[in-house]
Amino acid sequence: MDANDPTDSTDPTALDDPLDSAQPTDSTRSTDTDEPTRADRSGRVALAFSGGLDTTVCVPLLETEYGYDEVIGVTVDVGQPPEEFEEAHETAAALDLEHYVVDATDAFAETCLDAVRANATYQGYPLGTALARPVIAEAILEIAAEHGCTALAHGCTGKGNDQLRFETVWRGSDLEVCAPVRELGLTRKFEQEYAAERDLPVEGGNEGDWSIDTNLWSRAVEGNELEEPSYVPPEGIYEWTTAPGDTESELVEIGFEDGFPVAIDGEAMAPVALISHLNERAGAHGVGRTDVMEDRMLGLKVRENYEHPAATVLLSAHGALEDLVLTGEERSFKKSVDQRWAEKAYEGLVSAPLVSALEGFIAETQTRVTGTVTMRLAGGQARPVGRESSYGVYSASASSFNTETVGDITQGDATGVAKYHGFQERLANAVIGSASEADDPLEAATDGGLTAGADEDAGEESPEASEER
Ligand code: ARG
Repeated sequence: MDANDPTDSTDPTALDDPLDSAQPTDSTRSTDTDEPTRADRSGRVALAFSGGLDTTVCVPLLETEYGYDEVIGVTVDVGQPPEEFEEAHETAAALDLEHYVVDATDAFAETCLDAVRANATYQGYPLGTALARPVIAEAILEIAAEHGCTALAHGCTGKGNDQLRFETVWRGSDLEVCAPVRELGLTRKFEQEYAAERDLPVEGGNEGDWSIDTNLWSRAVEGNELEEPSYVPPEGIYEWTTAPGDTESELVEIGFEDGFPVAIDGEAMAPVALISHLNERAGAHGVGRTDVMEDRMLGLKVRENYEHPAATVLLSAHGALEDLVLTGEERSFKKSVDQRWAEKAYEGLVSAPLVSALEGFIAETQTRVTGTVTMRLAGGQARPVGRESSYGVYSASASSFNTETVGDITQGDATGVAKYHGFQERLANAVIGSASEADDPLEAATDGGLTAGADEDAGEESPEASEER
């Protein structure tokens, strides 16, 4: 049992506790002497506001527990469903909260397409929430500056990744940062009681069975029974994908320019429209469901479920085009570049100098990732079934089994290569096999080891060899 859990049911006084005893434990001012306590904070604070339980309870707490004079709520549109904005709007109205909605869908869609160029996945799923957070954090920072705020706040817990992703952006400004849920040690149960006592508007909407984070690129579902890794998710957790069944398969052609997807079935599309189109089209085939064990930045391992139909199609198609146009070495080296890009993106550190450097390499490779890929959508799968580019590092006549030569190179020219191929490995193995013997390992390496075993003197040390020691 957690002694700090304010909702610990064995302690009848617990529910009243956290706000009496808690002091905000963090701020942008780091020394203990000038750390503003909840009593001495003032001015306006901009809160990342979704209208969900966490951010709703933050509104009164920022005034009563921190001392801010005014809270403004900011909801950033990164492609959430319309109901979420209605919920945010209604909740803000009921709270009498000054509320702003910022449209960042285009900026976010561009980030998603950068992620395509980097083939960005983390532990087996396409990054989604992680890509959205820096966009949201920047948008809130801008609104805060415009409205004369001295502080920024989010409703993230102290256990997840999002607190880190928001704060790395915000702590680059000179505004105070507060995280009431984390700093006051709140639990969900406490928040529910607190909201009920104060008649806060937290009905319906996103407060169902699961904790859900939706944006244009992906839908993340976690919490409650899903926290148990053995629990099989009910069909009801999915909203973007139908159960993969035997829908009739369908082909879709994705056009790429410089590694960016730009067209579907020959029709040019802007990023937001292109992603939305594919979410629907591939989602209807059950494409893009992932159920993973995920290692969060703090080290906690959690079970997560995701839906990401468009991301699955685009990442797979993009990879298929790269396979055609990049050299083998570029392909294998880029895997490590992509992996680092995705790790930094997971951490919310997309503005790290390392990321710019990685993007330099990525951009250089993407100048040839232009062409089309045909994908087959069926039974929960999106498979590349055709690819075409004028940059293909490919010559049908050279690779074909039906032609004898490659330009002026004959089959026979490969004999010398075949003789050398693996020379060093054979030599090494011969040395290992005859370490205490006097055989010349070169013979074993060049004649396939035939003479080594046949040599009568094998195993006997020559007098010279023993003298040399
Ligand atoms: N675990 C993922 C991440 O950290 C997604 C979290 C989404 N949040 C949610 N409430 N489902 O990027």
